[in-house]
Amino acid sequence: MSESIYGLKRTHSCGELTVKNENEKVILMGWAQRRRDHGGLIFVDLRDRSGFVQVVFSPEISGAFFQKAESVRSEFVLAVAGTVRIRPEGTINPNMATGEVEVYAHELRILNAAKTPPFYIEDNVDVDETLRLKYRYLDLRRPEMQQALITRHKTTLAVRNYLDQKGFLEIETPMLANSTPEGARDYLVPSRVHPGEFYALPQSPQQFKQILMVSGMEKYFQIVRCFRDEDLRADRQPEFTQLDIEMSFIERDDILGIMEEMVAYIFDCVLGKKITTPFPRISYEDAINQYGSDKPDLRFDIPLVDIGELVKDSGFKVFADVLSSGGQVKGINAPGCGHYSRKELDDLTTYCAIFGAKGLAWIIVSEDGVKSPIAKFFTPEQFNRILDRMHAQPGDLLLFVADQPAVVADSLGHLRQEIAKRENLIDENALNFAWVIDFPLLEYDGEENRWVAMHHMFTSPRDEDLGLLATDPGKVKAKAYDMILNGVEVGGGSIRIHRRDIQEQLFSLVGFSPEEAREKFGFMLEAFEYGAPPHGGIAFGIDRLVMLMTKKDSIRDVIAFPKTQSATDLMIQAPGPVAHKQLRELHIKLDVLSKNK
Ligand code: AMO
Ligand code: AMP
Repeated sequence: MSESIYGLKRTHSCGELTVKNENEKVILMGWAQRRRDHGGLIFVDLRDRSGFVQVVFSPEISGAFFQKAESVRSEFVLAVAGTVRIRPEGTINPNMATGEVEVYAHELRILNAAKTPPFYIEDNVDVDETLRLKYRYLDLRRPEMQQALITRHKTTLAVRNYLDQKGFLEIETPMLANSTPEGARDYLVPSRVHPGEFYALPQSPQQFKQILMVSGMEKYFQIVRCFRDEDLRADRQPEFTQLDIEMSFIERDDILGIMEEMVAYIFDCVLGKKITTPFPRISYEDAINQYGSDKPDLRFDIPLVDIGELVKDSGFKVFADVLSSGGQVKGINAPGCGHYSRKELDDLTTYCAIFGAKGLAWIIVSEDGVKSPIAKFFTPEQFNRILDRMHAQPGDLLLFVADQPAVVADSLGHLRQEIAKRENLIDENALNFAWVIDFPLLEYDGEENRWVAMHHMFTSPRDEDLGLLATDPGKVKAKAYDMILNGVEVGGGSIRIHRRDIQEQLFSLVGFSPEEAREKFGFMLEAFEYGAPPHGGIAFGIDRLVMLMTKKDSIRDVIAFPKTQSATDLMIQAPGPVAHKQLRELHIKLDVLSKNK
């Protein structure tokens, strides 16, 4: 630090002081965490980004500074000159990193006073998030928030180091881009120069990175902001950060291998954690069948078990009817949950209803037999076969949903997670990575009566499925992959189509005429006619990755200035109205329709 403040230059950070600094004269600058007066001494815990240290003011050392110290309040900004001492016997604080030492102050400067903050600046504060977001500058002073941003910085640094070593180039792409069909809703930016026309903020740099491959860049990456106007959740923000990657002359398995190695490198550099590679691979179909989700949490077992075959001829009409109309009957074994009360079972039923389940049938298994509202519909043999198939042991609770496959998967997929949470079956330190592969290329949109791309329209079908494109598009699998970690999709990508005929076939399947395709993606189709190399890539959600690395529940906790569920920034009050003059410059006249129209 070259400038001195009131003649003082900072020499040390608070958190770095140890017994090795004994008798050293230090100058510290930071915030007063709290002041305690006792035994004729004043103690101030001084905090900076590195941590805390206890500063002691004694009237014997300086009466004037002692008096000044009496006026110090929480969050005052202080400069302290003093001597490092080893704390007297019995006053060592093992809960504090610097707990073996304290600084005896011989000088104090109050660099700035502070109003009483609206909440305590400490970890695990029980404060409404709205207040934290409004006073984000205070919230970010809390050590756990500082740690989260430090972890984020180290993560992007490790990414850059790794990819640089592997020959990737970081290349920026435009933020003022174009609106493309499909995907989420766009954020639009009106053009002043072109009245009535709009840019769109990119939902991802997908088209640019593919063009960069046509441009011969071979290996590209970017840590890039993406914008999507979609319904927000704990792991979704309207603007979020991707680690975006694309490579030429590459096959799926090469990409999976390099990305596993990169993730292992990041976790080692940033957290010192060793990750085992290769990651398990699970097909989309197996993921849905076994776990009811395309991003299953693999930290615990509890698979979904199909009992359709065993119950189709039973007297339970609900099950039989669902099966005869193309539905499924599946169940999970909640191990050791046989003690659940009626109320708890009702709660689980209500929980499953959120995902569309019309009921939740249960069987409690105990040493003396079973208890179940559906037992009466089955012969003892039929019932025993169900218990066998479910690997039921005395003390277990079996839970079943009968419905259309999507509802069965969604409700039981969530239920297994809920049971694992209630029963503490999740090892909070586990890191269960996996790849989900072989996604369907297309899904049918019943409302729009057409196929839509499950990933995006540039995703390549598997070579062995090319023939099916014309005959049975729903069966075509894509060269797409998602990386999942502890039940969260942290990244996703694919090998791309680089052949014009296949790209055109796909456009026509999703309902674009050749003219429409040309209008919407003309530059890309044209680029593909000038020698596009085979290529593919992936994008990771940096926010989600860092959320999992720091064991937070929401990506808002690893973003310096996030938005609320309703996409507002409470600190800067965005979005907000703009001056009439600005609108006129943009050739815009407002006629705001009410929200529900
Ligand atoms: P995708 O849409 O799967 O792929 O996004 C890639 C990753 O970005 C993260 N992510 C989000 N994180 C926070 N808030 C959001 N609203 C949000 N949406 C997505 C997820 C996801 O896995 N261009 C393709 C990638 C490719 O094909 O290479 C793409 O954007 O972690
Ligand atoms: P009922 O005969 O209607 O009292 O139902 C008996 C049990 O079957 C109750 O525990 C219901 O919750 C359950 N049940 C009803 N519909 C379904 C369904 N679609 N899937 C699973 N269980 C169901």
